[in-house]
Amino acid sequence: MNMNSKVWEGAGRRIHLQEVGTRDGLQAESAFVPTEDKIALVDALSEAGLSKIEVTAFVSPKAIPALRDAEQVLREIRRKPGVVYSALVPNVRGAERAVESRADELNLVMSASESHNLSNLRMTRDTSFAGLAEVARAVQGTGVAINVSLSCAFGCPMEGDVPVQGVLDWCRRYVEELGARGVTLCDTTGMAYPTQVAQLTQAFRERWPDTELTLHFHNTRGMGLANVLAAIDAGADRFDASFGGIGGCPYAPGASGNVCTEEIAHALALMGYDTAVDLSRLLAAAGRLPALIGHDVPSQILKAGQRLDLHPMPAAA
Ligand code: COA
Ligand code: ZN
Repeated sequence: MNMNSKVWEGAGRRIHLQEVGTRDGLQAESAFVPTEDKIALVDALSEAGLSKIEVTAFVSPKAIPALRDAEQVLREIRRKPGVVYSALVPNVRGAERAVESRADELNLVMSASESHNLSNLRMTRDTSFAGLAEVARAVQGTGVAINVSLSCAFGCPMEGDVPVQGVLDWCRRYVEELGARGVTLCDTTGMAYPTQVAQLTQAFRERWPDTELTLHFHNTRGMGLANVLAAIDAGADRFDASFGGIGGCPYAPGASGNVCTEEIAHALALMGYDTAVDLSRLLAAAGRLPALIGHDVPSQILKAGQRLDLHPMPAAA
């Protein structure tokens, strides 16, 4: 290990954790979480210090029935000053619904892979891009920010490796043609590995130093935290994560949970980073999930507790 590398010492540096559990997480669940519980979860996440929350998705209720209450959730949450409330939007119809419900930011999606774009969004990437451009034009001047999430940026479960140049070409179009405030590189099915993450992060940072770059990892193959550290080392400071470690795209074979917000917050705090997250509040929110979704969640910190949570010594036999 090279202790000269800057990643090992957080030194109070701010890392932004962006919660996506109520969108990426709940979209993958078969149980419908009651609307009032979703609202309570978002409010608890705001109070836990997350700087951005992807509250819900304004997609077809037939495609994602679990989020069919998007309007009500976004309208009835308690807005904490400084928190950005974002919503995933696949088309102009979704953008209209999200703006009407007072989303601060629209998270537009398309895929770096043609096959995944066709299975997830039922259109070619070119058609998707034209749709994103239409949304960007529609919200121009409204004060609503545009972020573009590029799925399968580190590999596609149907096509395999995705060429880096292609990923960067799409990013260029989001920044230069759509005027996106931010771009999210998504590892939709956990194919990213640290070397690759460092290379893509560095390439992006060099080309667009003023664009908000978010990394969105899934922990499908256990590389989530390693990928986060590789990205920080290469200059990233924003990460999507999901409380409880829930999540996954229903239209990507083999998809599973996002990197877990409390695991990342716990590790980064130990390393001296400032995530602004109140871990005990976050754990209380994540602890409500199993009862709401009807099964256990992947979070290791929920199971094991924090590193220095002490236990009574077992009585001698
Ligand atoms: N909000 C609400 N309803 C929408 C909608 C939106 N943003 N976009 C489309 N619809 C409805 C249409 O009104 C239509 O309804 P109908 O069947 O009652 O007439 C139906 O969805 C199909 O619309 P169409 O325009 O033909 O789109 P499609 O069938 O090609 O679907 C998507 C395209 C992208 C809208 C749809 O597949 C979708 O919402 N997918 C969700 C993808 C997702 O969230 N994936 C996980 C996150 S990455
Ligand atoms: Zn995801």
